Amino acid sequence: MADKKAYFTQKLLEWFEYNHRPMPWKGIKNPYFIWLSEIILQQTRVEQGMPYYEHFIEKYPTVFDLANATEDEVMKSWEGLGYYSRARNLHTAAKQIVEEEQGLFPATYEAIKKLKGVGPYTAAAIASFAFDLPYAVVDGNVYRVLSRVFGIDTPIDTTVGKKRFAALAEELLNTEKPAAYNQAMMDFGATHCTPRNPQCESCPFQKKYCIAYQEGQIDTYPVKSKKIGKKHRFFNYLIIRHGKTLLLNKRTQKDIWTNLYDFPLLEQDTLLDQKVLEARAREGGLLPESAQLIKYSKPFRQTLSHQKINARFWEYEVVDLDFYKKSPFIFAEKDQLDKFAFPKIIDWYLKDNSLYLELF
Ligand code: ADE
Repeated sequence: MADKKAYFTQKLLEWFEYNHRPMPWKGIKNPYFIWLSEIILQQTRVEQGMPYYEHFIEKYPTVFDLANATEDEVMKSWEGLGYYSRARNLHTAAKQIVEEEQGLFPATYEAIKKLKGVGPYTAAAIASFAFDLPYAVVDGNVYRVLSRVFGIDTPIDTTVGKKRFAALAEELLNTEKPAAYNQAMMDFGATHCTPRNPQCESCPFQKKYCIAYQEGQIDTYPVKSKKIGKKHRFFNYLIIRHGKTLLLNKRTQKDIWTNLYDFPLLEQDTLLDQKVLEARAREGGLLPESAQLIKYSKPFRQTLSHQKINARFWEYEVVDLDFYKKSPFIFAEKDQLDKFAFPKIIDWYLKDNSLYLELF
């Protein structure tokens, strides 16, 4: 685990080197500018926030300019960003800095956090970016990344969960490079390990380290206690083929996808690894000894109204199909697949795999 933590930090920083998102406030050390950028970015996307940042540093180049502006002026500058209390707090804090600190921006985490409108996340961001102080940012992005990579299922909307993630975030922080580390974390969460359709295929943690990926449970993290979760189901599909023929299954049960077609299926409470999959498939009479694994797919996910389906497809070549003579499965020719109605998740897989199927 200690190794994994060190690896995480190192890989995240490496990822950051190759995945720089240019932003006007990156790399600067002026705490006032950094503070402006962080207040603007609270609940605002980077693309949307950028022109506001440019406007603020031009119109109010120092904290004195901001403090001396009228409230109307500041509100006008903020127009369109929403959450107007943030603008009022910004103005109040500017006056606070001028009146109480002679315009000198506070330089410790605790003092920064005392500014109106600055919570722990923003204080950690400013403290690390402007002063290289070792405070880790923790927000929804961080919960998502850490819960996935480390497989933490403690609900994030509980005190225990919040403490656990905050402690892990502090442990992972690279204390020599807190600014780069925090920025890397923000960018990785915002652009790579996204809530939906994360870029797992090009992820530095993917196969070896990301527990959520290994479990095929990316969508279940982070866990919330209050959300009435959708039911998660895990479909381990077997694509059994011999030459151009492959097995299909007609779904006749009273379940989702009644009367659609899929493949021989092992539904379990997780996506299985090869060893367990083969053992269970053999036990269930789904896989002959002679079957040779050709390849397996990435996890596919489909969200239905009350369920989330996670599926992985394992392709096997068998010597002949006699083993399945008495099974309920249908022997279908590869070039007739377009005659069958499949659930979406199967279509996605077939599409994704189409080049491979051409090789039959
Ligand atoms: N969100 C909040 N602060 C940010 C920053 N410095 N860069 C990118 N996204 C952010």
